[in-house]
Amino acid sequence: TRTIDLAVVAGDGIGTEVVEQGLAVLEAAVAGSDVKVSTTPFDLGARRWHATGETLTDADLDAIRGHDAILLGAIGDPSVPSGVLERGLLLKLRFALDHYVNLRPGKLYPGVTSPLADPGEIDFVVVREGTEGPYVGNGGSLRTGTPHEIATEVSLNTAFGVERVVRDAFARAQARPRKHLTLVHKHNVLVHAGHLWRRTVEAVNAEFPDVTTDYLHVDAATIFLTTKPSRFDVIVTDNLFGDILTDQAAAITGGIGLAASANINPDRTAPSMFEPVHGSAPDIAGQGKADPTATVLSVALLLDHLGLGDEAKRVEATVAADLAERGSRVRSTAEVGRELAARVAG
Ligand code: IPM
Ligand code: MN
Repeated sequence: TRTIDLAVVAGDGIGTEVVEQGLAVLEAAVAGSDVKVSTTPFDLGARRWHATGETLTDADLDAIRGHDAILLGAIGDPSVPSGVLERGLLLKLRFALDHYVNLRPGKLYPGVTSPLADPGEIDFVVVREGTEGPYVGNGGSLRTGTPHEIATEVSLNTAFGVERVVRDAFARAQARPRKHLTLVHKHNVLVHAGHLWRRTVEAVNAEFPDVTTDYLHVDAATIFLTTKPSRFDVIVTDNLFGDILTDQAAAITGGIGLAASANINPDRTAPSMFEPVHGSAPDIAGQGKADPTATVLSVALLLDHLGLGDEAKRVEATVAADLAERGSRVRSTAEVGRELAARVAG
């Protein structure tokens, strides 16, 4: 028997609801095999912060490090000042655990309605850098609150950080039928970081000669995501551009209720973390309305990362079958989870 030691950070709002269903599908996927799942819940998020003032302590982080993977629901609550949990918990996890590949598939499954009139075939992955860029918190505010305030957010891009994520993106492109990589940046304006990214893609391309590449400025990329998303195979981009593009990717492929993500540490020096792209949705929290599909698809990414490729494919195929039949049927969070779990168990 092999045991998956899973750290569970259900978090805030609908996070707890969707994670419960994600875990049910995970259990169903390994049922009858020699793989067992052992879960450790972590009380992190708004409740903990209100009770203790803590977001993520060193002890929490050490305990999480001992696990094989992390399943995360959602972080954030209107009762907590903006940025406290985002920076102190979610981004702290991504940074501390070196999740430099933030993998976000953009796939339009049959039966899912896209808001695009003629979406064509949409099947790409965004490799969003996860540990650098404007997200590092490098900057500050002078003369805060005065008419003379000066605020800076300095984007950090290191050759080391860019190269490792670009190499990962090339490897992913090489493993896909179309073998195409698009770098998205804005090197006509952000000349320092932009040219580092451009030069890095050029240099690493030599290691992957069968991968074709092209380049789009981020503004143009948003146009193509709307007018011709089928042109994309693998996109590599920085942390902030990737954040924005993956919300657009979710929107054109059926909405954030379906968008999965993996925060991967490819070197496996720490556990990777799997989470739906959506947030805590306080407006619908506690009502059993949230779609757990994005979390279930994140569970498929988790299984794949842990080397359980067959189980991962079964979970994804189950979601695809459910989506194909779903139509306009309205089901609760638990109903969707229960039906997916039953189907995965077979
Ligand atoms: C996401 C979210 C986060 C991000 C926020 C909540 C910090 O928007 O996972 O896309 O910007 O990365
Ligand atoms: Mn986002």
